[in-house]
Amino acid sequence: MEKTFIMIKPEALKAGKQGEIIDLLLKNRFGITNMKQFSFDAARAGRFYSMHEGKDFFGDLVAYITSGEVVGLELEREGAIKALRDLVGATDPAAAAIGTIRFMYGTDLQRNAVHASDSPESAEKELAIVFGED
Ligand code: CMP
Repeated sequence: MEKTFIMIKPEALKAGKQGEIIDLLLKNRFGITNMKQFSFDAARAGRFYSMHEGKDFFGDLVAYITSGEVVGLELEREGAIKALRDLVGATDPAAAAIGTIRFMYGTDLQRNAVHASDSPESAEKELAIVFGED
């Protein structure tokens, strides 16, 4: 079965939405095989988001993701990566389809409730950074 990674971002956690988001994952038949609440430091955040290094929003992205605790989950399901991207919705909550996590819980492009891996390579890398480094 395919593995993927989702991270509940600081604003969603501060608003107490983690339970509702995890419930949606379970209702959509994702298995949770690992889960952890933690804080990024700038070095780990930079490694996690290294594909965005050099972009104009990179500094703000690292500042935001280190601003509060996050919850990372390793998920398992048939076709997990695509199924999760469909459930999460477009990066910008304003463009996300009705019923998606970002439509329901996102605020704006930066505070978009969750991050989800976009490929098998990103899933492997992100799971290793979150669960494999401690
Ligand atoms: P995420 O899926 O976590 O991946 C990178 C994040 O950068 C993205 O969600 C957005 O929250 C954030 N971001 C900020 N500005 C932009 C932008 N212009 N384009 C894409 N992502 C952005």
